[in-house]
Amino acid sequence: MTLYRATVLDTPQDPFAGGRLRAEQDGGLLVRDGTILARGGFAQLRRDHPGEPIETLDGGLLLPGFVDTHVHYPQVRAIGGLGMPLLDWLQRCALPEEARLADPSYAVATADDFVRSLVRSGTTSALVFGAHFAPAVDALFSRAAATGLRITSGLVLSDRILRDDLLTSADVALEQSRALADRWHGTGRARYAVTPRFSLSCGDDLLSVCGELLDEIPGGWMTTHVNENTVEVAQVEEFFGTSYVGSYDKHGLVGRRSVLAHNVHATDEELRLLADHGAGVAHCPTSNSSLGSGSFPLRRHLEHGVPVALGTDVGGGTGFSMFKEGLQAYFMQQLLGADGVPLTAAHLLHLATSAGAAMLGLDDVGDLSVGKRFDAVWLRGADDGALQVNLRNALDPDNALAKAFALGTDADVAGVWIDGERVTD
Ligand code: GUN
Ligand code: ZN
Repeated sequence: MTLYRATVLDTPQDPFAGGRLRAEQDGGLLVRDGTILARGGFAQLRRDHPGEPIETLDGGLLLPGFVDTHVHYPQVRAIGGLGMPLLDWLQRCALPEEARLADPSYAVATADDFVRSLVRSGTTSALVFGAHFAPAVDALFSRAAATGLRITSGLVLSDRILRDDLLTSADVALEQSRALADRWHGTGRARYAVTPRFSLSCGDDLLSVCGELLDEIPGGWMTTHVNENTVEVAQVEEFFGTSYVGSYDKHGLVGRRSVLAHNVHATDEELRLLADHGAGVAHCPTSNSSLGSGSFPLRRHLEHGVPVALGTDVGGGTGFSMFKEGLQAYFMQQLLGADGVPLTAAHLLHLATSAGAAMLGLDDVGDLSVGKRFDAVWLRGADDGALQVNLRNALDPDNALAKAFALGTDADVAGVWIDGERVTD
């Protein structure tokens, strides 16, 4: 058993539904075998449990582990391709790198870089876009299992438009996806996600196989891209003769365990369809900004009741930090003026933690309530750095959290725990 002493912040009640930031300034969390057994003021917890070892996490903030709802494993080495719109960026930056994962030893090294980068940025759960090659997907699941990271991932599928070495056929897709799901879905913390890359690169036969796989895998997930860029939206509509969301829905791919990334250019009809089916949207603001995809219509998602959580979309996105992602989400809504949603720091924390956990069906993480698993990130900068100077001078916990989103970086992540185990040095 360990008694953690820290300033603990989380969002067990949705701030979009009137919930407020929950804060324990000199707080305590009693953790046994990965479960939070008690929570409250440190002094009281100390009196109640006088014999337990104390771990003091002073001078910073202890937050729930981040949940990244959209991040590409094969793109960890392709971050920073600036100055191109989506389809050019795919052609010139992302896809040449993704093709390199055909080499299993390159894939293992990339999986190592990826998993380490996620953990070091404080991400403890993620819905991960896998690779186009089955051995590379095995490498990802193996590396994630070794660190304890909670990942949901799968083989990325495409049968048109992309370069030849990334294409598959419906039969091979079915066989390889089945084998991977058999091996990994429900093994430890891993779960399988059927992953058509985007309907622009998938014909109806392949999407139909995706529907078949989703039916076959009990509790299986589906993830893909949707409505990211106006050029691809027009091409998808022309190819399928339906809306972008409709191209997935007609194959049974839009449901409670579906997460679609971006949705920047959604119509009201598409938002209704997503809401009716309980599907979630991964909002990836640094990617949307970097690729010039557009500004995310958060207000319309909220009005339609479509669940939204944050994703980094590495490498279209500019890094693994959910602080940066939250800050960019805030900027984007500010710049939308009257069409934007004014976001507080509590909203940002919710979008980076509890909203993602709920969207991914990870009911036992997402906040630091009694009974939840202890997935946590300790943010603490150098004593004389701007982050610490500002945290020491915060007016209240909401202000401290705003400072964390304004100033926090991966380098300020001083400790990360998954299921009660410390996974960073
Ligand atoms: N659409 C299809 N593939 C990708 C990708 O790798 N990144 C992004 N941002 N959008 C995509
Ligand atoms: Zn993506």
